[in-house]
Amino acid sequence: MEEFHKVRRLPPYVFEQVNRLKASARARGADIIDLGMGNPDLPTPTAIVDKLCEVVRDPRTHRYSSSRGIPGLRRAQASYYARRFGVKLDPDTQVVATLGSKEGFANMAQAITAPGDVVLCPNPTYPIHAFGFIMSGGVIRSLPAEPDENFIPALERGMRHSIPKPLALILNYPSNPTALVASLDFYKDVVAFAKKHEIIILSDLAYAEIYFDGAPPPSVLEVPGAMDVTVEFTSMSKTFSMPGWRMGFAVGNERLIAALTRVKSYLDYGAFTPIQVAATAALNGDGSDIAEVRDVYHKRRDVMVDTFSRAGWNVPAPAATMFAWAPIPEPFRKLGSLEFSKLLIEKADVAVAPGIGFGEYGDDYVRIALVENEHRIRQAARNIKRFLTTEAGATDNVVPLTVRR
Ligand SMILES: Cc1ncc(COP(=O)(O)O)c(C=O)c1O
Repeated sequence: MEEFHKVRRLPPYVFEQVNRLKASARARGADIIDLGMGNPDLPTPTAIVDKLCEVVRDPRTHRYSSSRGIPGLRRAQASYYARRFGVKLDPDTQVVATLGSKEGFANMAQAITAPGDVVLCPNPTYPIHAFGFIMSGGVIRSLPAEPDENFIPALERGMRHSIPKPLALILNYPSNPTALVASLDFYKDVVAFAKKHEIIILSDLAYAEIYFDGAPPPSVLEVPGAMDVTVEFTSMSKTFSMPGWRMGFAVGNERLIAALTRVKSYLDYGAFTPIQVAATAALNGDGSDIAEVRDVYHKRRDVMVDTFSRAGWNVPAPAATMFAWAPIPEPFRKLGSLEFSKLLIEKADVAVAPGIGFGEYGDDYVRIALVENEHRIRQAARNIKRFLTTEAGATDNVVPLTVRR
């Protein structure tokens, strides 16, 4: 029987192959150090959990909630933007709460895309950026991931050579998987371009608060006039270690926010009210929870960069996010990122995410997630050192595992 139209447009998840190998290694008793999935391991701060427990006892909170987010939550998000970015938002028309930023992004794609619409999307990037639109009938044209002098020329080429004219462009800085950060000057250029060409900007700012060096990452909405064309997504998942709670936001242009709100009103009743109340308390907090989370990732980053380089793998220090984007060591590069990732599981008991899972231009890299503690990261480095010394000379004999099986 033929596969369903939508399912046909979703290739098997590359990460699934690594996950399967990881599971079978563990079943054999291997102690796999899992730096693969970007799934934060830190507990949600106690005060936020306590707030949830307190509110859940009130039976009035057990009813359907508000799809667009309770008013206090939307006000808290507007205050966060005012405090952190100096951006003024109307909580009634320019803020909507989402069931995590992933859901918000995918439903925004659904709300605004007509069949065949072209969307300009970085490659490599977090998969929903492309597949949200592909599932909605859109077509993707790739952009470079680097926010440098080649970006605007690439946008111009994308504009000139796409039929129909592109609907939207996607930004994600600090970036998953590359960890690159954009400057406000870069955003100024992109906003000017978008306004000139009447194209929508969708900015994913999920890693707004996970930064280590230099100034905090800006919001594209800080650019005067950006609100005319932009929606930005943020997330509680990484900032407050709340990935399982499913709470995020879309903010920005009223027309776009209204379109997303309308679609969501048909699909969901909003997050469970106690989650919304606890998220409100988190956003209205003094920022110390955020600083603690940032500090943990910072220390892990330093340990990883230091120990991996001493093990013979020079990984550039990421300036932000919970990821390092690591070039595959030279002797193994020809294997490609999927086979190299499989080899690392098999021979070093370390799981990473193959770069190819983020797009074809990611295949020379793997993504290392800082989701194990410092002790485990050191252990990973020891395993990798052993692996590099014993295997590097033998790559000509390495038969990709897919062939071996
Ligand atoms: C860039 C980026 N956007 C969005 C998400 C999804 O976050 P949420 O848990 O808010 O859906 C992630 C999660 O890894 C991410 O890396």
